[in-house]
Amino acid sequence: MSATTTTPFFEAPGRGATAQALAELFTTTHGGQPAGVWSAPGRVNLIGEHVDYTGGLCLPLALPHRTFVALRPRTDGLVRVRSAQESGSDVEVRLADVGPGEPAGWGAYVAGVPWAMLRQGFTGEVLTGGFDALVDGHVPLGSGLSSSAALECAVAVALAELAGAPLDDAGRAALAAACMAAENVVAGAATGGMDQAASLRCRAGGGILLDTRDDTVRQVALDLAGAGLALLVVDTRAEHSHAGGEYGKRRADVERAARLLGVPTLREVDPAQLETALERVGAQEDGQVLRRRVRHAVTEIDRVRRTAELLQDGRAGEIGPLLDASHESLRHDYEVSSPELDLAVETARAHGALGARMTGGGFGGSAVALLPAGRVQAVADGVAAAFADRRLRAPQFLAALPSEGAARDR
Ligand code: GLA
Repeated sequence: MSATTTTPFFEAPGRGATAQALAELFTTTHGGQPAGVWSAPGRVNLIGEHVDYTGGLCLPLALPHRTFVALRPRTDGLVRVRSAQESGSDVEVRLADVGPGEPAGWGAYVAGVPWAMLRQGFTGEVLTGGFDALVDGHVPLGSGLSSSAALECAVAVALAELAGAPLDDAGRAALAAACMAAENVVAGAATGGMDQAASLRCRAGGGILLDTRDDTVRQVALDLAGAGLALLVVDTRAEHSHAGGEYGKRRADVERAARLLGVPTLREVDPAQLETALERVGAQEDGQVLRRRVRHAVTEIDRVRRTAELLQDGRAGEIGPLLDASHESLRHDYEVSSPELDLAVETARAHGALGARMTGGGFGGSAVALLPAGRVQAVADGVAAAFADRRLRAPQFLAALPSEGAARDR
């Protein structure tokens, strides 16, 4: 790349115009207007990785990049979904047939939602009568930025509103639980609940401190611009083919470690007692691996606590070392990073990032870096050049402005 080229950013389109265009497309393709258009954001996790399935703390924020859904209720129990981007990927399923593994593919993230909402105690005709939906996604797919949660949560907020369910934080927490169940049971991905909580419970201008032990959320203001800072997301556009299986293995490791330690989750391990806990799991046959997994979870939860305190005190510029330590822990102890993620993180630091780490599930996907606002383009250019030098696929860059959670657009 020549020194004069500036690396382009993956921009989020304007909400109003996108929603209007989608409503018009729905009207032409479905013959009649939708009941409304709703959208939900992807997320980037600032810190607190791979701890949401062991009672930990995480600190995600909603991205400006959203998935939009135009939706109209039916009365015959059918769910029909179409993508505005990919023609030929239509899904049609009877709600009565939805269940574990059914429907397969992307339809699970749509039809799984009313299925799970009913089981979560939500009521309303739209949950049994079915609906037509047209989906327009602007969260990059397979990038570790929760495009699947954005889809689930856009559908959830649409159905909740049509069913007359409250959309206060308690209502949103219940919806997040339903979306997580749709993903775990219908789509069959054993993920924790961070992504759905972020997509539904974040507010513009901040992130959430999510406590996955009791599902409570504290809003954390992130006035990065005011502090002369910016958050840059680097989507490496590299996916690890065994990602699904490895995620499940990590989860099994920490669940076994918790059983060995006689605690419900690793959240119960006091950081001051870490050495004792490591000795106990270390006595197992695969003790070295378990030691590393436990060390990651316990130290990561502690790093989230310290990050939240710094942010609370208006000291965002000082969280860089915690982000760096999180990455090293995920790389060496939890073993979920990848060469592309390590390159993105190291290059971002070398070009002036105050801290950088992989974000999301790992094995490819995205990294996040905290930078002085004036360094954003230079860091993006530097990372793009480093990838080009190694003949890696060109990464894509997103500005992570803390945005609003799932909501109605028109
Ligand atoms: C994925 C999962 C989340 C969480 C992260 C890792 O995004 O969906 O539940 O476990 O990985 O922090």
